[in-house]
Amino acid sequence: MSTPLRVLGISGSLRKGSLNTNLLKAAQELAPSGISVDIADISQIPPYNADIDPFPAAVTALKKQVEAADAILIATPEYNFSITGVLKNVLDWISRPYGKCSLDDKPVAIMSASTGMLGGGRAQYHLRQVLVEMNAHAMGKPECIVTFAPEKFDTSGKLTDAKTREKIVEMLTALAAWTERLRE
Ligand SMILES: Cc1cc2nc3c(=O)[nH]c(=O)nc-3n(C[C@H](O)[C@H](O)[C@H](O)COP(=O)(O)O)c2cc1C
Repeated sequence: MSTPLRVLGISGSLRKGSLNTNLLKAAQELAPSGISVDIADISQIPPYNADIDPFPAAVTALKKQVEAADAILIATPEYNFSITGVLKNVLDWISRPYGKCSLDDKPVAIMSASTGMLGGGRAQYHLRQVLVEMNAHAMGKPECIVTFAPEKFDTSGKLTDAKTREKIVEMLTALAAWTERLRE
């Protein structure tokens, strides 16, 4: 990798103790040298409304942050077999104005954590479908699907599960290579 890779993390959960936000924090902690991970603050993004013009400051700031990043890392819960409304709302905002989608041509890696035995995998496939319309380039493998997630973090929210920690390093390393390939 010739230059440092700036990754922007987006969590699909606003919850303070979110497992998915904690996964992004683990990515920050575990990022191999040459890769940095920031986490976007999406707490001030309002529900999408096409009548809101100009765009809210929080949306404009997020669009800039996404556009400045080399790659995006999304960690989302699964809600009723899909992505969360919160994440879809963020994606809808940054897909606009029409023709100025902030994810256009961006490499994206996807993670999910859930309390259940399927780890949010179904939401990941819905997310891939949305990313197709946004012309983002979702990385295929490795997948990061964290099942029974509450058992894998300590009470402070730190990821303690060794296999998941390894998977995150593997995913960030692969995301750097995926980003490089897309630049060729
Ligand atoms: C409205 C709602 C729907 C949910 N649906 C699913 C689901 O379809 N599949 C699943 O694995 N977990 C489901 N869950 C449980 C989530 O995996 C769990 O709440 C998880 O902690 C959410 O992620 P977070 O900790 O990052 O907020 C659902 C939770 C909520 C609140």
